[in-house]
Amino acid sequence: MPQTLYGGTRNRRVTVRDLALAKERGEKWPMLTAYDAMTASVFDEAGIPVLLVGDSMGNCHLGYETTVPVTMDEVAMLTAAVVRGTERALVVADLPFGSYQESGVQALRSATRLVKEAGAQAVKLEGGERSADQIGLLVRSGIPVMAHVGLTPQSVHTMGYRVQGRGEEAAHQLMRDAKAVQDAGAFAVVLEMAPAPLAAEVTRVLHIPTVGIGAGHECDAQVLVWTDMAGLTPGRLPRFVKQYAALRSTLGEAARAFAEDVVEGAYPAAEHSFE
Ligand code: KIV
Repeated sequence: MPQTLYGGTRNRRVTVRDLALAKERGEKWPMLTAYDAMTASVFDEAGIPVLLVGDSMGNCHLGYETTVPVTMDEVAMLTAAVVRGTERALVVADLPFGSYQESGVQALRSATRLVKEAGAQAVKLEGGERSADQIGLLVRSGIPVMAHVGLTPQSVHTMGYRVQGRGEEAAHQLMRDAKAVQDAGAFAVVLEMAPAPLAAEVTRVLHIPTVGIGAGHECDAQVLVWTDMAGLTPGRLPRFVKQYAALRSTLGEAARAFAEDVVEGAYPAAEHSFE
């Protein structure tokens, strides 16, 4: 009996080979972002096989407006925390903007730090054809790479946040990008905000798993930013997000109940106090 990725064996970490075998079996799998040890341990215990220490930490954890200001130090520190909080999940660390675009050597130096110092088992970087050289060098150096095409948030200032791959030429470019990262050796590719039929076609053509976010249900895997998935992110969310909890209101209610107890003298009660 093959071990399934979701709900499968817990005696070792998930590997990139497990993901390749899941694609062969036609098994879909979930991926979530994580930015700290405690949240990561919850997702690990829930059986999420792949956790991404995404540069979405910029918007969701560090208070920046975009992912652009995120630094290597920030990714390294949060990746180490997520690795410490997990036993089974494959931990993928995002290479932040400016840490790999310059050259393969720069990409290798940055990725090596995330693997050696922070303990990541793989890295992710944005870009299709334009990042193929970097991906090739990392993979030849022994670092598994997850690629990311379609909408690439680090390019927000040129691309905006809109669906990619619409129209014939854009669809061809997205397909070329996906093939380029596969040919360069990526073990999986994130497809962000692409039309569902195009993402389905890419998923059929590629032999590596596609991880969709706003790319329809036919991708091999699906990823969401955990604060979106759990209802902690404030404001209007992208159409592709489904909220599975309402953490923002739950936490807010807990904070208000604590505050009222303190103000009224109801906390701490006798059972919370020492003789
Ligand atoms: O940084 C991130 O969280 C991501 C996912 C949205 C794929 O890149």
